[in-house]
Amino acid sequence: MACSPDLARRLAALGARAGREVGVLVSRHGRVVHALVGRNWPGLEATLAQRRDGRGLCGLRLLLTYGQPDAHPTDADLELLDHARLDLLVTIGQRNGEVTEVWVASRGRGGVAHIEGSIPPDALAHVAAAHRIRSAEQHARDPAEPASHHRAERAVLVGLVVPGREGWSTPATLEELRRLAETAGADVVDVVVQSRPRPDPSTLIGKGKVQELRGLCEREAADLVVFDEELTPAQQRTLEEELGIKVLDRTALVLDIFARRARTREGRLQVELAQMTYLLPRLVGRGVLLSRLGGGIGTRGPGETKLETDRRRIRSRITDLRVRIEEITRHRRMQRRARRAFQLPVVALVGYTNAGKSTLLNALTDAGVAVEDKLFATLDPTARRVELPAGGPAVVVDTVGFIQKLPTQLVAAFRATLEEITASDVLVHVLDVAHPDWPRQKRAVEEVLAELGATDRPIVLALNKVDRIPPQQARALIVQTGGVPISALRREGLAGLLEAVGAALPRRTARATLEVPYGRAGLLGEIYALGQVLQQDYGPDSIRLEVEAPTAVLEKIRSVAASDDRDAPSLEERAQDR
Ligand code: GTP
Repeated sequence: MACSPDLARRLAALGARAGREVGVLVSRHGRVVHALVGRNWPGLEATLAQRRDGRGLCGLRLLLTYGQPDAHPTDADLELLDHARLDLLVTIGQRNGEVTEVWVASRGRGGVAHIEGSIPPDALAHVAAAHRIRSAEQHARDPAEPASHHRAERAVLVGLVVPGREGWSTPATLEELRRLAETAGADVVDVVVQSRPRPDPSTLIGKGKVQELRGLCEREAADLVVFDEELTPAQQRTLEEELGIKVLDRTALVLDIFARRARTREGRLQVELAQMTYLLPRLVGRGVLLSRLGGGIGTRGPGETKLETDRRRIRSRITDLRVRIEEITRHRRMQRRARRAFQLPVVALVGYTNAGKSTLLNALTDAGVAVEDKLFATLDPTARRVELPAGGPAVVVDTVGFIQKLPTQLVAAFRATLEEITASDVLVHVLDVAHPDWPRQKRAVEEVLAELGATDRPIVLALNKVDRIPPQQARALIVQTGGVPISALRREGLAGLLEAVGAALPRRTARATLEVPYGRAGLLGEIYALGQVLQQDYGPDSIRLEVEAPTAVLEKIRSVAASDDRDAPSLEERAQDR
């Protein structure tokens, strides 16, 4: 059996209780040799390394619960299956601790996974393991199979500097490109920068530089070249022909990272739409080249879907994806309306990728969102409830990390995610102040927010990672930016942050008619202080007031006014009691 139904049930229940992913490595004798909680897996490599003998499988299967009903294995987990030479990868979806579905993946020829699913929980007992492991073992021991299929692609990065003009490469954008390339799994072997008064229309960099680049790629045995700037489809095609290897631009790289990181079905659909939209104009005459260049960075799609090279099919897939995403967007809007109905204010965490948004959300709510020191760990918004020190509960949502020049296709594809930002009451802009380039990152985020039309609401600036800078620098930054210093990792400064958020929340006011008995007329002074009295009429037993005030205040006034106890505490005392 690939996974006993009982073990799947227990893992799902544990995962739900822990609020994060839970996994176990199980030997062929059914013994649990390692347990994993969350996405941070210290010691896993060591356990796996002990088991590896260079060839063959490691004799362990990984059973993993995802924190969601959808259990389609992520590309990152499929990579682990391949790289660690696991017997099997069994992924378990759960809702409220109940198993929803199971997927079973095993290694195939050349490291390509066989994926089976979705398996309903009651069919799990019939999913045999032995023949799957036997066939995976055969592939792994095949002499034609490279000992480690997992060679990182070797990348050369290229930037163009146009003196006196903004928007072209700088040392900072190239450094970011390096991090992006590494996040996508590439090994950066060289960086080439050309300075030109204007870009070459057909190849961006000059003809001579292209020849030089070709020589360099041959010497370095490079697999791909990544341009810091966006290439037109024609430029990309010409460069690929001249260089003879795969050429990507920044957008393609970002898309590739998104594709590998999307965790939910929603995230995967959004990424696929962005990829397809990006790919469509780039297909002309590239069918052969695409298939020759095959696989690797820039061609990875969500889940097991291979990027199609047929334009007609892509067009119909784009239409299909749009419809499905529209459904998700509608569903999200309904959820948002429900939050509004409960009057819960919504706080959206925004920030440059890797600024620490997920860590902060975890710290605030113990939500257990995956945190990784890689770019774009977050692709799906995650909403959690927090208590503000003054002002009751609020909903905090994590959003996708921003990056300079967020390509327009991405903005459109991630509408469902980005709408969380435009629909929020307050934004918390998480800034990594330990990053040498934080002012540029701050500007980039502000630009995206302006593009989204989200700058009309209060923004609280969270100066994160202050634990990594000297205290006097932190003090100077607080003065300079007016931000709130925090360390999401060490959970420091969070009370101050929540206080600032509470203070920034627009007060929700409402109108109400209140009857204040003459015996409680002492309340009038307080009512005048806390709200706006629009009208006041004197009845036989009570004073009737038409008041506009924050909803919470109205509720309190009502309860105090209705109370028969004349010694009842005043409004202020009540507020302090809360
Ligand atoms: P994206 O998903 O790319 O948008 O990233 P994110 O903004 O959600 O960042 P995440 O929370 O994944 O954190 C990125 C890295 O920064 C992780 O390695 C965190 O441990 C680290 N980090 C976050 N907050 C702090 C902090 O206060 N201090 C320090 N030293 N490290 C932090």
